[in-house]
Amino acid sequence: MKNIRALGSLIFAALLFLSISAIAQNQPSMQKAKSEPAAQLVNGYEPAWWKEAVVYQVYPRSFSDSNGDGIGDLNGITKKLDYIQKLGVNVIWLSPHYDSPNADNGYDIRDYRKVMAEFGTMADFDRMLAAIKKRHMRLIVDLVVNHSSDEHHWFVESRKSKDNPYRDYYIWRPGKPNPAAPNGFDPPNNYPSYFEGSAWQFDPQTKEFYLHLFAVKQPDLNWDNPKVRDEVYGLMRFWLDKGVDGFRMDVIPLISKRPGLPDLTAEELKDPSAVLANGPHMHEYLQEMHSKALAPYDTMTVGEAIGTTLAQTPAIVDDRRHELNMIFNFDAVETDGAGKMYHTPNLPDLKAIYTRHAQQLDKHSWDTVFLSNHDNPRLVSSFGDDSPEFRVPSAKLLETMLLTLRGTPFIYQGDELGMTNYPFAKLSDYDDIAIKNAYKTYVTSGKLTEPVFLGIVSRISRDNARTPMQWNATSNGGFTTAAKPWLAVNPNYTTINAASELADPDSIYHYTQRMIALRHAHKALVYGDYLDLDPANPQVFAYTRNLGDERFLVVLNFSKAAIAYTLPAGIQAGDLVLSNLAGTASTESHTAALNLKPWEARVYRY
Ligand code: NOJ
Ligand code: CA
Repeated sequence: MKNIRALGSLIFAALLFLSISAIAQNQPSMQKAKSEPAAQLVNGYEPAWWKEAVVYQVYPRSFSDSNGDGIGDLNGITKKLDYIQKLGVNVIWLSPHYDSPNADNGYDIRDYRKVMAEFGTMADFDRMLAAIKKRHMRLIVDLVVNHSSDEHHWFVESRKSKDNPYRDYYIWRPGKPNPAAPNGFDPPNNYPSYFEGSAWQFDPQTKEFYLHLFAVKQPDLNWDNPKVRDEVYGLMRFWLDKGVDGFRMDVIPLISKRPGLPDLTAEELKDPSAVLANGPHMHEYLQEMHSKALAPYDTMTVGEAIGTTLAQTPAIVDDRRHELNMIFNFDAVETDGAGKMYHTPNLPDLKAIYTRHAQQLDKHSWDTVFLSNHDNPRLVSSFGDDSPEFRVPSAKLLETMLLTLRGTPFIYQGDELGMTNYPFAKLSDYDDIAIKNAYKTYVTSGKLTEPVFLGIVSRISRDNARTPMQWNATSNGGFTTAAKPWLAVNPNYTTINAASELADPDSIYHYTQRMIALRHAHKALVYGDYLDLDPANPQVFAYTRNLGDERFLVVLNFSKAAIAYTLPAGIQAGDLVLSNLAGTASTESHTAALNLKPWEARVYRY
């Protein structure tokens, strides 16, 4: 069992970057009018469009295939923009769309200024961007610059010789001589890769090793080289000049490496990210990035903050520091009863995380709120209940929470439909390099039997989130006309799909649309104070969001049991604004005594 949990956390690490060694509106981005007077503060916060936005993440490979090759593409996204716009979101985050050999589905970039051929052309991108702007939405793109692909021409050059002008674009080191080791050398240090094994790869051409914190085909860029930094700022300006509105920055805290690259101690190997992230020059590089690339544009930036604690967060996002607008902190995604993820969350732990965030991030530090993305299993399967009986109410409850908490909410594609985990049965059902590498580490090596391994990974695999969007009940969920999509569609597409939800006013899609509209209509849900009314309650999450006279009370029954619940602290629910149980919804109002049905969510004025 310990092993299983360890494997769970290990693969999670590969996915979400914890410890590997735990076991062996919208104009184009425009020049800021620098002379504009500072906007009036709202509850102490400087208002900004990206604070008021709701973001929708598109994973292009899995969104919509326009040309029948089984792979989602940019024209497919363009065709579905009305669907996204009608949900009410303001910003689309597009996972990597750049030229890539796809060792890690686009997170290994071969050319930062080119569109992946499978996704279309630059003209398709420009058309998509124009169509997004026309619909008064904005676009942020993924910035993957801790590493590139080994097929990027910088690396192709870099590996040719020790004196190649690009040699120092990457991190090369001689190995430690060991006649017994393959090639006669041990790696320069004991860094583990997030995708299994050593983070060093021997290159026979020059007989040195290069660092790759992720896959062998993802060599880490050397940010200490000013030429590398200038290349990055240049490519950022390239996309900003096209009109994109900002960036989601992949594993950005890893860019500054520890001087001398010493071995990790046994203690550090338990959580390498804590040491590999937030290196000595990270803040300097982010500030330089701000001044050399971002400052002239009106952008939104969000960093994937691997290895970054809540206490370290303000140093990155405090608006007086000019680094990033916000980061993704994974504390909430990682909660469950046993301190690990992907089980029914231990509600008091989850609530405590949100309270800590509210306490520790002051009015200068903005937050994000999310529980899913392309690296995690499905929202309703991990945090709700994906059984036929409770899938719909629990998915709606989760959207209620995400859209009423503090911070800019991020919705991952398909969660607005309540899409679920995939019934993975065998290794060949998976595409993800993280699973394939983990299979070698655990099953091929004999550490775990195949059934045990497959049982674990089916719950936690990133591929759960990457199965194609379920558009309708036709073959392959209407995602593609090809006989076989790149990754199988969840067989439940016949019942869970966009067409049926669009036709049903009580669907998860329409409920999410109403919740988004509610957030947009009330600044209290954006800038209001947050207070958890009942932190220890294991079943009910009840909190308030207040801004002056605008006072909201949110009550969520996080369980499949009905409960008679009395609001604490003398609080009385006022008018009921929204409930997730349309049709059977209670009309209880102006009372402290609430009879909550299973997975019921209510938003009140109070
Ligand atoms: C984080 C991305 O979200 C993930 O999908 C990717 O595998 C790693 N970074 C490496 O780029
Ligand atoms: Ca296609």
